[in-house]
Amino acid sequence: TRELDLAVIAGDGIGPEVVAEGLKVLDAVLAGSDVTVRTTPYELGARRWHETGETLTDADLEAIGQHEAILLGAIGDPGVPSGVLERGLLLKLRFAFDHYVNLRPSKLYPGVPTPLGNPGEIDFVVVREGTEGPYVGNGGAIRVGTPAEVANEVSVNTAYGVERVVRDAFARAQARPRKHLTLVHKHNVLVHAGHLWRRTVEAVAQEFPEVEVAYAHVDAATIYLVNDPARFDVIVTDNLFGDILTDLAAAVTGGIGLAASGNINPTGAYPSMFEPVHGSAPDIAGQQKADPTATVLSVALMLHHLGLDAEATRIEDAVAADIAERAGSSAPRTTSQVGDALAARVAR
Ligand code: IPM
Ligand code: MN
Repeated sequence: TRELDLAVIAGDGIGPEVVAEGLKVLDAVLAGSDVTVRTTPYELGARRWHETGETLTDADLEAIGQHEAILLGAIGDPGVPSGVLERGLLLKLRFAFDHYVNLRPSKLYPGVPTPLGNPGEIDFVVVREGTEGPYVGNGGAIRVGTPAEVANEVSVNTAYGVERVVRDAFARAQARPRKHLTLVHKHNVLVHAGHLWRRTVEAVAQEFPEVEVAYAHVDAATIYLVNDPARFDVIVTDNLFGDILTDLAAAVTGGIGLAASGNINPTGAYPSMFEPVHGSAPDIAGQQKADPTATVLSVALMLHHLGLDAEATRIEDAVAADIAERAGSSAPRTTSQVGDALAARVAR
C-alpha cells in the first residue's frame, strides 16, 4: 500500500468549500485501491494574517515542505491590502518550492458553453514559467505619491530558468499526439528577454526533432485564442504572459470554474502544488455556489504528477460525463452536490 501525504491549504473565500469537494472526490477515486491519503491542514490566509500578522513563516514552509504534494484552494481577501497575501503567501510558496512549471491545461469539454462561435477542438496546455519574469518582485519606486514618482518592475529572465521550463515544455509536446509547441513572447519589443527565450527554444528544439515549433507575439496570441484556439497544442511562455493567457484560455473553455493548474517542481526536490486557477471569490463565499470542478481537475493533475494516471483519468472522465449531463439540465447545483456527483462517478 501507498500513502499519499498531502498538505492542504484551503485558504480564503470559496477555498474551503471547493477543497472539501476535491478531497471528497480524491477519497472516492482511491476507495478500494491500495492507495490511502493522509491530509494535514495548514491554516494560512486572511484569517491568520488578521490574527497574527503572519502570512507564511519559515516554520510553515519547513513543515509544508515535508509533504509529498500540496492542494490549495484560493488565497486573497478584500480585507487584506492587495499584494500582501498574493506575494507573501501564494507566490512565496511557488518561489520557495521552485515551482518553475506552472501547468495550465485548457480543454473544451463537449456541452460546455463557450463564447466562441466556432471553437473547434480546443485541447492545449500552457506551460507558464513560475519562478521568474516580472513576478520576482525585482523593482522599486521612488518619490512615491509625488508627480515625480518612478515605479519600476523588472522582469528577470535567466538562461537557467528559461532553459529548464522550455525543456519541460518540449518534453510535454513530445509526449502529446500533435507534438506541437508555440513560444509566446513579445521579442519585437522586449528584445532582451525575448531573444533569450527565442534562442533557448531554437537550441532545445535540436533535442526534440519531432516537435514542430511555432512562435506568436503575445498580442497576436490573444487573437488566436479567440479566433482559432485549436491551433495550439503546448504553449510555453513567461510568468506574466502565462497568467494573462490562461485566464483568457479559461474564458473560452467554459470559464474559470473549470480551469485547473499545477505548480510543479519536476525534479521532485520540493512538493508540487495543485490549485484551481480561480481566486477566492469573496462575493459568493460560504454560499455553496462555487463550482468545485476546477479543484477536482487540479486533484487529477496532482494524481498524474504522482504517477497515478489511471485514477487521474477516472476523474477527468467523470468530469467530462458530469459536464455533458449538466448541459442538458438547467437546475443549478450546490458546491457539494457537484462534488457528490463526481465522487459517485469515480467510485468503483
Ligand atoms: C493565478 C493568480 C496569481 C498569479 C495571483 C493571485 C498572484 O492570478 O494563479 O493566476 O498572478 O499568478
Ligand atoms: Mn491569474
